[in-house]
Amino acid sequence: MAFPPSFIDELVARNPIEDVVGHYVSLKRSGGNLFGLCPFHGEKTASFSVSPDKGIYYCFGCHKGGGVINFQMEIEGLSYPDAVRALAKRVGMQVPEDEQYQSRYKAQERLWALSKEAARFFYAKLYAPEGAEALRYARERGMPKSTLTTFGVGYAPNTWDSLVKAMKAKGYTEQELIDSGLVTKSQKNGNIYDRFRDRLMFPIIDVRGNIIGFGGRIMNNNDPNAAKYLNSPETLIFNKRKNLFALNLAKKSKLGYLILVEGYMDAVALHQYGFDCAVASLGTSLTEEHAALLTRYTDQVVLIYDGDEAGQRATRRAIPILEKAGLQVKVLKMRDAKDPDEFLKKFGADKFKVLLEDASNRVEYQLNAIRRKYDIREDEQRIAYIHESAELISTLGSSVQREVYGHRVAEEGKISYEAMSMEINKAWKNRQRREKKAQEKIDLAPARNLQPKARTIRYDDVKSARAEEGLIAMAMKDPNLLDQTAGLTAEAFSVPLFAKVYTQMLARRAEGLGVSVAGLEELSGDEASHIAMIAQNQSGPVNEQAFRDCVELIRSRHRKRSVSSDEDLLALRNRKKESGGYHG
Ligand code: UTP
Ligand code: MN
Repeated sequence: MAFPPSFIDELVARNPIEDVVGHYVSLKRSGGNLFGLCPFHGEKTASFSVSPDKGIYYCFGCHKGGGVINFQMEIEGLSYPDAVRALAKRVGMQVPEDEQYQSRYKAQERLWALSKEAARFFYAKLYAPEGAEALRYARERGMPKSTLTTFGVGYAPNTWDSLVKAMKAKGYTEQELIDSGLVTKSQKNGNIYDRFRDRLMFPIIDVRGNIIGFGGRIMNNNDPNAAKYLNSPETLIFNKRKNLFALNLAKKSKLGYLILVEGYMDAVALHQYGFDCAVASLGTSLTEEHAALLTRYTDQVVLIYDGDEAGQRATRRAIPILEKAGLQVKVLKMRDAKDPDEFLKKFGADKFKVLLEDASNRVEYQLNAIRRKYDIREDEQRIAYIHESAELISTLGSSVQREVYGHRVAEEGKISYEAMSMEINKAWKNRQRREKKAQEKIDLAPARNLQPKARTIRYDDVKSARAEEGLIAMAMKDPNLLDQTAGLTAEAFSVPLFAKVYTQMLARRAEGLGVSVAGLEELSGDEASHIAMIAQNQSGPVNEQAFRDCVELIRSRHRKRSVSSDEDLLALRNRKKESGGYHG
């Protein structure tokens, strides 16, 4: 449903973009705008801008942008109505009724509340008589009371219905219990029963502090078929691909980086030993959504996967995903222990710190990976090893790094440093040549350069599109200009997005409403970003003359396009006539 425009306007007015953004990004004023580090991609220089006047944000690095609602959607991963809801809550506004949306949100709220009740139930059971065994197991695994409390660890009793009963008594329905994933419905007889039984329970908490699921560890090996960890299934509130265990705690860490591990216990142990920046993926491999989530809190990630082959494979997979999100990646290879949990308990925090300090960076890791591919006792393979390493080293920005790694490979490949250095230079020159060629190709196709960054938006008539951009940007700055359109209709626009925006602007103007990015409806993320970019880049004069020039240009380009399509038709008709193929 669409919210009433007047409601959205008030919502936007009461949520100044600089306040909302300022909650996530530390902003510094520079001229009329504010700048900070983009929360959507890792960066060291501030290319993220907020314009309080225009009510927009725009990142010159990753080209994300939009109004305050778009920002809320993007930063919290919310749908449009959920973002509106969150902003309304922020300023204590009542959201107009929308049944479908309301019922979904209410269902979510019920599930959050139910999960919290369940966590309380499990927590209490850990210290009840039936939890004695579980408590002993937790102690055996080296978790003191403080750790159990920090993580809200609990125990699911060894019965079929104790959770069902306890939650029913709190007023939750069978359907809600099933929807929460905590309870399963038997295929055979339709009875419902507790999904988690006789397991040590780890609540999974999202960054907003809601309990969204659980991981339950089995404590004995009586049943070889039972999974070691049982996780909540996907539900209305739980998505493994979008959440990370312990991020609710790690996001507050002062360490300045995040550690990414495989297991619940690894994350727990790291926190316990002072590395309160550890998070774990939830039994899935790392996703792009995880990486995007991490960029909100850090630009540096230390990957510590298990030392086994599976762990190394997962590491190789994760590196490009993290780097693509703009994160700096370091890799720590587990030695003398299977995982971080085991390492910490065997050797302690100080030894772990040493490991962390010489956690190899991406280059080192990649060089090792190349090294393992070749048997350098064979001359041919040795040469291939040197070539491939030189290629990698030549990509390094710092000459110190190139020299250090160059020396290392030279030594291993049994060649002189001079020869190695020549190889690196050659690789560098070759790449320069390739890049130059690629650049020339782009330069030779100037039209392509003028296209929007978002692939979903195309300019078929670049001249007209520029005028449409100008018109929209000016109208946003001074809505009175919309009285100067001299009857220009949306059909004359060459870009459907601009036609849509123009139509909405006119309608809002007619109703006496304001015209801003935030007030626009039905824009996709790409579209909102694109409009914000245009509004942000607007720097030319804003006056009636400039506006009318745009109107005139749009009109004449439109005429030209229609004439040329008429001409095409005419030409086609004539050709068919000549060949006798056209009758009529
Ligand atoms: P591991 O088998 O490496 O377990 O699984 P672990 O973390 O070392 O566990 P402990 O120390 O024996 O208690 C790593 C992660 O893979 C997921 C869990 O998220 C686990 O933490 N996993 C593993 C499952 O989801 N189900 C399983 O049956 C096993
Ligand atoms: Mn382990």
